[in-house]
Amino acid sequence: MTKDDVLFILLGATGDLTKRKLLPAIYHLVNEQKINHFAIIGVARSPITAGDMLSFSKAFIKEVNEQSWKKLESAAYYLSLDFYNKKEYENLQKLVATVTAKHHLSGNKLFYFSTLPDHFETITTNIYRSGLTTGKGWSRLVYEKPFGSDVEAAHKINTCIARFFKEEQIFRIDHYLGKEIVGNLALLRFTNRALEPLWNRNHVEAVQILFLESLGIEGRGNFYDKYGAVKDVLQNHMLQLLALTAMETPQKLTGHYIRDEKAKVLDKVKVRDVVYGQYEGYKKEKGVSETSSTETFAAVHLEIDNKRWKGVPFYLKAGKKLDKKETSIHLKLKSVPCLLPENCPTDSNYITIKIEPQSTFALELFSRVPGKTLEIMPTTLEFSQPMLKLKSPEAYEVLLEDVIKGEQSLFVRNDEIEQSWKIVETITKKKGKRYNYAAGSHGPQELKVFEKEHQIKWRG
Ligand code: BG6
Repeated sequence: MTKDDVLFILLGATGDLTKRKLLPAIYHLVNEQKINHFAIIGVARSPITAGDMLSFSKAFIKEVNEQSWKKLESAAYYLSLDFYNKKEYENLQKLVATVTAKHHLSGNKLFYFSTLPDHFETITTNIYRSGLTTGKGWSRLVYEKPFGSDVEAAHKINTCIARFFKEEQIFRIDHYLGKEIVGNLALLRFTNRALEPLWNRNHVEAVQILFLESLGIEGRGNFYDKYGAVKDVLQNHMLQLLALTAMETPQKLTGHYIRDEKAKVLDKVKVRDVVYGQYEGYKKEKGVSETSSTETFAAVHLEIDNKRWKGVPFYLKAGKKLDKKETSIHLKLKSVPCLLPENCPTDSNYITIKIEPQSTFALELFSRVPGKTLEIMPTTLEFSQPMLKLKSPEAYEVLLEDVIKGEQSLFVRNDEIEQSWKIVETITKKKGKRYNYAAGSHGPQELKVFEKEHQIKWRG
């Protein structure tokens, strides 16, 4: 349980994120008594009520405990506000003062920006200038992804924020960092003698990071067509997974230590090759241009130019409307020297971390085919969250709780954000080939050329 009370100010409160993720996460924190003393102010342009805002969200909670829901209802407010009209922030000031007094809050404020990044600078400036962040208690600002649309935009937003706030107040969200097995990765790597010595260029032949989705763009055409797969998921989720997979041991697993190590990895990433794809029918999606060349699929070859990883290829593959949903990391280990010529494995051992749709950690080994004397087959040693019968909280619950605690290790720092946008810029400059692919397939047929060239067999 967090000891601090908190006033959540949800900016962009009529959007999908608030409905599907933020309000359900706050509800679960309340229901599990992780927060007891709180209030919520939803803010957006549309003239709805707090009741509407909550009821939109109720459908996204599996089992609602009516008593906890009532707690939410009695602490929820909504204000219709034009983010570009400075005067209107006075109304927000007044409502914050009234709610703070009524609920006996100490003045702690959590501003959650779930608007498009184009509005971050204006809203940040107006919040600061209207005096909303002065007075008692802490003020923390949480920015949803995407944080900008390229390196210049991200830098501009960072510079604007830094004029008014300290980095300790800023929480850039990447919800993958709140997922159970992702939070476990550093512990698995650094506390196991069976893994730690293997995790480098001496033993790892190649790494794959997959972000496969069966869903399409789900009505987000207007947004997606400007971004595409590389900016939507590679710039953030996939590069964060890469950084956590590749980083050196941090001094501690809290505070800025992990972020220091991730930043060092991102700084050393080199882009080698890229292939794009677009699913057939994408151009007919609502909000998408009929002549769009935006990629809904990308396969990228990267390298990390440091002592631990030099020469080890990192292959990243992301795509919408593929045959399955899977986010996973695969470390292909080098083969053993073949001293038993009749029993040499034809493949390698793999260490596999699956993040979606289920958290599992697996080690693939070769073992005897039962009953046969000399034949071998791959077998898997695996542990998974459901096997352990442990229920882990949703990513947004973990992240919101950390913001209230002021713990920043699961949030992306200003330097990491700009480094990842620089990597995206280099990928874009490579001008990779573009192919179409059928919805529900593995991606473009032409990817075979990339696979042959890199001698890669995709996992997943
Ligand atoms: C979001 C992307 O950040 O992550 C979406 O914008 C993607 O396009 C989503 O579908 C995937 O997240 P998850 O948690 O469902 O795997």
